[in-house]
Amino acid sequence: MKKTTIRDIQKLKGSESPFATVTAYDFVSAQNADAVDFPLLLVGDSAAMVVYGMENTIPISMDELLFLVRAVCRGTKKALVVADMPFMSYQASVEDAVRNAGRFIKEGGAGAIKLEGGVPYTSQIRAIIDAGIPVMGHVGLLPQSYNLSSGYRIQGKSILEAKKIIEDAEAVQESGAFAVVLEGIPGDLADRITNLLDIPTIGIGAGPFCDGQIQVYHDILGLYGDFSPKHAKRYGNFGVEIQHKLAEYKNEVEEKTFPTKEHFINSNIHLEKTH
Ligand code: KIV
Repeated sequence: MKKTTIRDIQKLKGSESPFATVTAYDFVSAQNADAVDFPLLLVGDSAAMVVYGMENTIPISMDELLFLVRAVCRGTKKALVVADMPFMSYQASVEDAVRNAGRFIKEGGAGAIKLEGGVPYTSQIRAIIDAGIPVMGHVGLLPQSYNLSSGYRIQGKSILEAKKIIEDAEAVQESGAFAVVLEGIPGDLADRITNLLDIPTIGIGAGPFCDGQIQVYHDILGLYGDFSPKHAKRYGNFGVEIQHKLAEYKNEVEEKTFPTKEHFINSNIHLEKTH
């Protein structure tokens, strides 16, 4: 089976029908997503919240993400696996950026990395690409800047902010990124950026006018408690479903209706009394 390449992703620019992508965090979620033929799976730093139960994406470390990247790569035969650079793995220096991006490729098996930010990170993007590693950009709402932006706020509602986001998106493209995530920006701004850029835009909370969409696995499947972000649609309520099934199992054990004879064997040997 042919693995999806960044060239395949780039060809999706401007196609009639937008493409869907999703995050994945372990072997099983990767297998499920790959079976549906998503071209790209992102091992997002959203794992901080949906896998590790942290309050936001800031505390997650390289090693905590690297374990997940490895598991996702083992479960993926076709999709391009993109690993998300966690907070402080690339911000402090170009050297950090190249070394940590390299770990995701060499130790994790990912095919590309993603990092947040535009104009201030062009040196990092260029250096990572010079090292032979494809980069996906991410502009607009930047969850790793949670403290600076006083929480998760839609970005680009004023002319000044909108211009800055356009500049960021253009800078990401000029630095050589093969695609860019547009997060938490008005739909008309995402439309404008999508038309301006030659690389595919992948929206989340950015309206329908992007080349593709990305969603968090747990959000669309209803796996993450009651909370559902405004940009996400729940296609299932599997968290509740799992709890019902676990309760069923527990009850059957307590009522002695599981295990039954099809779930075990008897040896029919006569064991000597040992005491
Ligand atoms: O970490 C993540 O899941 C992401 C996507 C929401 C784009 O960055």
